[in-house]
Amino acid sequence: MKLDLYLVALAAVISITDGAQQWPLLKHLETQDKILNRQGCREACTSLKEQYSSQVIFFDEELYRVELSRYWSLQQSETLPACIFLPRSPQDIASVIRLSSKTGCPFAAKSGGHVPFAGASNIAGGITIDLSRLNQVTINKDGSTVSVGPGNKWVDVYRQLQKEQITVVGGRIADVGVGGLTLGGGISFFSNMHGWACDNIVTYEVVIATGDIVNASRTSHSDLYWALRGGANNFGLVTNFEMRLYPHDQSLMWIGKILHPGAPNTRLIKAFVDFGYDDTDAKATLLFSFVYLQKQDQYISVSETDYASAVVEDVHPPVFDAFFAVPNAFQTTKATKTVVDIIEEHSSANPNGLRQSYWTATFRLDEALAEEIVEIWKQEIETIKQSVTGFVPVLTFQVITVRMMKHMETNGGNALGLDEREGPLMIVAPSAMWTDSMHDEIVLSTYAKWLSRSHARAKEQNLDHRYLYMNYASQFQDPIKGYGEANVDRLRAIAKAYDPEGVFQRLQPGYFKL
Ligand SMILES: Cc1cc2nc3c(=O)[nH]c(=O)nc-3n(C[C@H](O)[C@H](O)[C@H](O)COP(=O)(O)OP(=O)(O)OC[C@H]3O[C@@H](n4cnc5c(N)ncnc54)[C@H](O)[C@@H]3O)c2cc1C
Ligand SMILES: *[C@@H]1O[C@H](CO)[C@@H](O)[C@H](O)[C@H]1NC(C)=O
Repeated sequence: MKLDLYLVALAAVISITDGAQQWPLLKHLETQDKILNRQGCREACTSLKEQYSSQVIFFDEELYRVELSRYWSLQQSETLPACIFLPRSPQDIASVIRLSSKTGCPFAAKSGGHVPFAGASNIAGGITIDLSRLNQVTINKDGSTVSVGPGNKWVDVYRQLQKEQITVVGGRIADVGVGGLTLGGGISFFSNMHGWACDNIVTYEVVIATGDIVNASRTSHSDLYWALRGGANNFGLVTNFEMRLYPHDQSLMWIGKILHPGAPNTRLIKAFVDFGYDDTDAKATLLFSFVYLQKQDQYISVSETDYASAVVEDVHPPVFDAFFAVPNAFQTTKATKTVVDIIEEHSSANPNGLRQSYWTATFRLDEALAEEIVEIWKQEIETIKQSVTGFVPVLTFQVITVRMMKHMETNGGNALGLDEREGPLMIVAPSAMWTDSMHDEIVLSTYAKWLSRSHARAKEQNLDHRYLYMNYASQFQDPIKGYGEANVDRLRAIAKAYDPEGVFQRLQPGYFKL
């Protein structure tokens, strides 16, 4: 009986996975010719093909479809680039950027391809630069840092480091890319100990608009170094991230999942808010979510309690007592695992090939507001819950702890505009999976309503915050504006210095621009 609900929750994800793999949508009747003409990329793609032959893929090649299937969301897989380029070196990237400037053919760059909305890392009728061949993971001589290429997914990085019982501050899902997660911030199992991913980069190797390759660090191009910690794809394409290394005993973690029926659950919300204020144990982080199960017509909550080391006898660490005290429908046992095993499990619950959307909002950490926000989400979901095919809506809460914000001050601060005096904050991120494009509009407009209603309620109580976590933002949001006016001005000035012609603004239109 108890186990049933857990299986049901898993089945909700797995059953809609049957609808996945609809790519490539062979419905579209476009031809190679039409695609090449769309943005005048015929010259650029042809000349790339002449120079790089098998590193360039056209629509009529089998590999084109394979490449498109490697995006997480169907919206990105459906986007048809004029050609796909697979650079092997920073010099290859420099030459495609020069070619784009010369011909005016626009481009997009892809690391792990996990941003849900179309155009973020794939471009209709332009050149899509797939960074997957820049996949070095090289521990540096003194053992304090590792050089990681943007073609890696997090699982590739952890797998290498696990052998040495060391780790980096990286993603919590196997298939997410190093590039996007790190350039937008990067919340990790280790973030309460060491900060976000971006705060643990020692040097970025970047190809800038002129095609020059520069190293940005605290001491060299320090303005660019600051800008890249939150500035996404606006300053150049990063070809190497030098990341700080930390010891990690046996690479083991403890990860407990607890399922509770119903939403909102006030005891759990109180536990979540208390956890954020108390912040007694830096090894602990939380992902606290509500999920609607369409087949069962039921809301549940899933508390994922993460602990960055093994624990004695596999018993939950005391910092999570309040969550385990609430009677539950299911809880995991045997929760000590390697990081690689954990993040691979997470990936299998997030398959490629479905329609996806992520949104984000930030508020002061507050119990009554959190309850209201769940209630608003539920009210909005109620209106569409049975009509959207394969609908899996989720609402996730995370804390930006004061500890995390303190770590952001190391290395001269990042561009995110967060200040520990305003903390702790909560990131509230609603997301949805569904299967039919017919329902895109209704899902997106429902989430937009949730967003405006939630902000309005928070503003009335003086609990709203301008910050929007880029890595969860929808295409209708403006996370860079959320960094605050002073930071936006500074980012624009730095972009002007490194990219006076605005190559990364004009020719790379996807994702969040300055
Ligand atoms: C299932 C799932 C789980 C997630 N888990 C986490 C999590 O635990 N923690 C967290 O913080 N976030 C998480 N996220 C959010 C994730 O960080 C973002 O979606 C992130 O942008 C994905 O990075 P990517 O490289 O896979 O995406 P991509 O779509 O490949 O890239 C994202 C953007 O970054 C740009 N970019 C990528 N590489 C480079 C580069 N080298 N130089 C310049 N620009 C580049 C791309 O052009 C694109 O605009 C998760 C997302 C999903 C879907
Ligand atoms: C950047 O740093 C790397 C590693 O130290 C080095 O190999 C490379 O030559 C540097 N590049 C530039 C342009 O300085």
